[in-house]
Amino acid sequence: MSVSKTILICCLLFLNCFLLIKCQTKTKSQGHTKENAKEQTIDRSLKDLVPYGLDLSTHRSNSSYVLVLGSGGLIGKNLVPALRKANYSVLEVTGRDHLDLRVENALTIFDNLEISMVYFLACEVGGSKFLSKKENSDIILKHNRQIHDCTFDYLEKRNLPFIFSSSSMVDDPSAYGTIKHEAEETISKLENGRIVRFWNVYGVEPIGLKTHVVPDWVQNCLLSINIPIVNSLLGSLPKLDEPALIHSLTDGNEKRQYLHTNDTVNGLILMMKHFNSIDFPVDLGTGVWSDLRQLGKVLLNVSDNRCGVKFNEIKATERIIREPVLDTWFHRNYWLKEDFLSLEQGMKLVFNKMSKSFLINRTSKYRAILTVSLILIVFTIRLFF
Ligand SMILES: *[C@@H]1O[C@H](CO)[C@@H](O)[C@H](O)[C@H]1NC(C)=O
Ligand SMILES: *[C@@H]1O[C@H](CO)[C@@H](O)[C@H](O)[C@H]1NC(C)=O
Ligand SMILES: *[C@@H]1O[C@H](CO)[C@@H](O)[C@H](O)[C@H]1NC(C)=O
Ligand SMILES: *[C@@H]1O[C@H](CO)[C@@H](O)[C@H](O)[C@H]1NC(C)=O
Repeated sequence: MSVSKTILICCLLFLNCFLLIKCQTKTKSQGHTKENAKEQTIDRSLKDLVPYGLDLSTHRSNSSYVLVLGSGGLIGKNLVPALRKANYSVLEVTGRDHLDLRVENALTIFDNLEISMVYFLACEVGGSKFLSKKENSDIILKHNRQIHDCTFDYLEKRNLPFIFSSSSMVDDPSAYGTIKHEAEETISKLENGRIVRFWNVYGVEPIGLKTHVVPDWVQNCLLSINIPIVNSLLGSLPKLDEPALIHSLTDGNEKRQYLHTNDTVNGLILMMKHFNSIDFPVDLGTGVWSDLRQLGKVLLNVSDNRCGVKFNEIKATERIIREPVLDTWFHRNYWLKEDFLSLEQGMKLVFNKMSKSFLINRTSKYRAILTVSLILIVFTIRLFF
């Protein structure tokens, strides 16, 4: 009898949840219909721009926008919220699934809007894991040339001021260096374009094929720590007697300049503010070269001795990387070295943020299991007593 009772209760619970969900979706869709009716009076072409960040409730005919092309990347993802925080109205194209910039006239959807600045961050690119694959170099060349041709053409026609993201690898003979070099040549002939060069920008990133070394190591570090259930429930990392080891793809002797996304974004916004006075490529580097072995030591420190890095014998692909020019008036007056986050500070931020979301994921799983178990126990007790 108690079994049939349990089944009955479960069925009732299930029905309850089902009705609740059904009810919620219904109210949502009703809301939509009402909104649609209201919006029909609004210019159709404006409505088409809502997915790109246009806010119909604040848009005025004299509104002016900053357009970020390639906002789905590491830099763009941080730039867009920073611009909004500084009260700029922002339109964005996250990536090719959002708006394919390789298609001629793709950008004409923005024709009717006043655009005060374009950040051209769109690029077929990834971390060293992606770049080093040979078959990817043809893709990089072809796709970026298409993006450049279409976009430069549009920006020139409308005479829109823009800041193009180039790289410390602009002199490198790789596909990536080649397309950046070509683009810099084109822009040097345009009045309305400026160039920014990035060294190694790092920040919190979701992990996938195209990742960079800092978030990649942090993620591997978190995955290699055995987290007991107690810690999962508490939402904290355990102390380890021995650091867990993660593996570097190379011998770790390659030197880079690591710049945190916050400092990068500050530099980009300052460039916009002083756009008319800048007539040279702006190098956003730190001036401090660190090899991966130093980076490994910093990881050991910021992870509180939880993760060490093991290096192998493989030399990294030789790259021609420029020495950044950091003594221009722009750097001296606006983008100050003293304000940069150190590698320790920056990596600590990345580590803390990534471990927090990592633990939340795990914790919510355990909490859900715990809650369900508790409910079952309570029901069982009530059935028997
Ligand atoms: C835009 O126009 C409104 C009036 O329609 C005015 O109050 C506002 O100051 C204008 N904004 C700009 C940036 O010119
Ligand atoms: C942005 O606008 C809000 C509301 O108008 C204002 O409170 C805030 O101080 C502004 N922020 C900046 C950075 O100008
Ligand atoms: C970095 O930028 C984010 C977003 O603007 C901000 O919330 C955070 O406080 C900044 N961190 C530091 C250390 O500047
Ligand atoms: C990390 O480095 C700081 C100083 O750079 C030091 O005070 C701290 O004890 C170090 N932490 C670990 C876990 O080594």
